[in-house]
Amino acid sequence: MKRVVVQFGGTGDLALKKLYPAYEHLMEVGFEFTVIALGRRFPNRQEFLEAMVSPKASKQFLEHLEYLHYDMYAEEATKPLKSKIEAVIGGAKEVELIYYMALQPSLYEETIHQIQEVDSTLSCKCELTKKIVVEKPFGFDLESAERYNAILLQAFDDKEIYRIDHYLGKEFMQNLLILRFHNDIIRSIWDNRSIESIQIIFDETHGVDQRLGFYEQIGVVRDTIQNHIMQIITYLTMSEPATLSPEDIAIEKVKVLRSIAPISEFYTGRYESLGANSGRIIETPTYAAFNLSVNTYYFAGVPIFVRTGKMQEEAKSLIYVKFRNTTGKVMHDETIGENGVIITIHPELTIDINMNLKQPNTSWKSKPVRFRFNQAETFGANTPEAYEQIVKKIFQGDKSLFPTMREISESWRIVTPMLAKDHHMEVYPVRTLPRFAQNMAAENGFTWFD
Ligand code: BG6
Repeated sequence: MKRVVVQFGGTGDLALKKLYPAYEHLMEVGFEFTVIALGRRFPNRQEFLEAMVSPKASKQFLEHLEYLHYDMYAEEATKPLKSKIEAVIGGAKEVELIYYMALQPSLYEETIHQIQEVDSTLSCKCELTKKIVVEKPFGFDLESAERYNAILLQAFDDKEIYRIDHYLGKEFMQNLLILRFHNDIIRSIWDNRSIESIQIIFDETHGVDQRLGFYEQIGVVRDTIQNHIMQIITYLTMSEPATLSPEDIAIEKVKVLRSIAPISEFYTGRYESLGANSGRIIETPTYAAFNLSVNTYYFAGVPIFVRTGKMQEEAKSLIYVKFRNTTGKVMHDETIGENGVIITIHPELTIDINMNLKQPNTSWKSKPVRFRFNQAETFGANTPEAYEQIVKKIFQGDKSLFPTMREISESWRIVTPMLAKDHHMEVYPVRTLPRFAQNMAAENGFTWFD
């Protein structure tokens, strides 16, 4: 079978940093396919390779990486694309064609039409399977997401559509489900009877850098909250799926999402120099903090506090599950520390359980200690990159790591109030936490797990 990936956005940041390394590695481990990179930036393959591909790239990868200068606004833009695809397919009898859209959402609609045009006129005397992959954010808001989906469904069956959220390809995400559903001791403590609150902290040190053009239309809510953060929340709070089939997993995730009300307590900010280089002030939030509740039987009443954004002092990604502390009152000892589970994603993949144990040479004094699992120490440092996992699943036709349209629509519904343009946005100096994040903690009586 001949597999061809048609890479829209083939000269973009995502292709360069994540997709090409993933493709190269997948070829190394035995997957056979050809990539046709499409872009406007370079007039020919030579210049594309010089700028976009490491000189150390394997021969095999280079031999399977084609380039087509593609201007989607040119007249008859699809003609050269159709010819290129036909040339790459050659006389293959069985073909899998994967259209991969790694583009600004504003280009989706036109691109989908162009794909439909290519698809309907492609001459291939072969047995053809097609798939279409759409990067996040899927749409700008609920309305556009549903509109894009309707257009996609005119040419593709839902089972041929892969909507990406690369967080589902991450080891820590998959581990969350194993931690929760393969451990009986966790089962009895993982609900609102034992959990007091949950914090999700995703602080990044980098700014929007070369992605300004993309990011200024998107902002933090569309970039990470509508997708990555909502998916993390579903994995933290969903009930066990009946089986590991994508359909059964989606049923449980949708239940969680449907129970969440549109976010009403939220704050946003942008870092001070955003847009300074271009001489424009860019009203795009780069940081947000908010609070929501999953109103299911097992999680109602547990506040989930989230803060996430760019240009912070320290790169830190963690989930802190704080348990109720009733023993302190029972034994009249104010000094008993908190029990908690801390899942750290960055800088290292670790899971800690905080317990109180006796401090030697004291009379009944306890001290918080941590029991730690360290992914790299236990399993080695060769955890596959998220995008590699995701692309592999697309090849294998396994949709368990892809959000369904229902999940995407529910997530848009939840973040809708945060997309309004008329709320106050704090301007924060780079490398500092916006004031609203601290205020939100003080107002809600908790301390960020820093
Ligand atoms: C991407 C966002 O989806 O996720 C980026 O567009 C963000 O802005 C990134 O930095 C974080 O992903 P990771 O894999 O680096 O944690």
